[in-house]
Amino acid sequence: MDRHLRPFLAATVLSLVSLLAACGSTQPTAQPTTKPFVIGMSQANNAEPWRAAMNAQIAAAARNHPELEVRFTDAAQNNATQVADVERFIEQGINLLIISPNEATPLTNVVAQAYAKGIPVIILDRKVNGDKYTMWIGADNKLIGRRAGAYTAKWCQDQGRDPCNVIEVRGLEGSTPASERGDGFREGIATNTKVKIIASQNADWLGDKATPLASEMLKVNPKVDVVYAHNDPMAEGALKAFQALKLNPSTTLIIGIDGLPTPDGGIKSVRAKRINVTYVYPTGGQEAIEWAVKILEQQAQPPKEVILDTLEVAPTNAAEVLKRFGGE
Ligand code: FRU
Repeated sequence: MDRHLRPFLAATVLSLVSLLAACGSTQPTAQPTTKPFVIGMSQANNAEPWRAAMNAQIAAAARNHPELEVRFTDAAQNNATQVADVERFIEQGINLLIISPNEATPLTNVVAQAYAKGIPVIILDRKVNGDKYTMWIGADNKLIGRRAGAYTAKWCQDQGRDPCNVIEVRGLEGSTPASERGDGFREGIATNTKVKIIASQNADWLGDKATPLASEMLKVNPKVDVVYAHNDPMAEGALKAFQALKLNPSTTLIIGIDGLPTPDGGIKSVRAKRINVTYVYPTGGQEAIEWAVKILEQQAQPPKEVILDTLEVAPTNAAEVLKRFGGE
């Protein structure tokens, strides 16, 4: 069949299904739609700004494709909820699944189930185990960690700090960016033996959890030279701990990751000199929709991995980067 006609035929069939549903047909999980392609987007946690940005990019990219309907679910950082969300999508007969998994191991099986049913699966940002999915899109978290480590090694050298004490605020342990950002950082600091990670705590990616943890670490360790937070919200959370303890953070290097161009995002925070450096971690939302269209409408065979660029944002380039990404 001419591939250009396929969506319209599919649309007709789906309209018919909707009509039958409206006439009282008993299909408990059938969702009426007039769109040819339904994409299920399973989000790990809508409550985090970076994830809200990912959803917004997906929605914006999908608006250019009237043939797509995107259904969003929010697992609220709960693995069992996210498994159930994907199971529901499978029952609904979605045409393609996009998922940003909360943690790798608990989500691996359900992703493999969708894939085994012939549903193309695009994994965004955090990974699952194994290779039972169509493609993964994201930035290189190990590289980001290495860059943050190299920045730290140089800063400590330039400042003559000996020892140069680091406290680390980590992301959710079962999510792959946390281990990759942690491992990369350790590689990056290896060139300067004066850099010491003196404390490391897991705040699950959440700013609110980072404040009390950073507070404890600051109380126990009187000399802290560097705060390495695995994302910007946790860097801001650590900053609140300084304020609460009436400590001056201005001689401490504070590092975050995400670099959103939003009013409360990391780029503005660097420009305002609240934090010292961040790394743009693209959400991949737009790329996911572009690949979904190629897979669904052009039968493309995508690469197994698409690696997105990252960018170091320091006081020297923060204003320019903010402009480039449309912030002000
Ligand atoms: C949001 C988030 C981002 C981080 C990413 C890693 O949930 O914590 O801040 O960069 O997830 O997966």
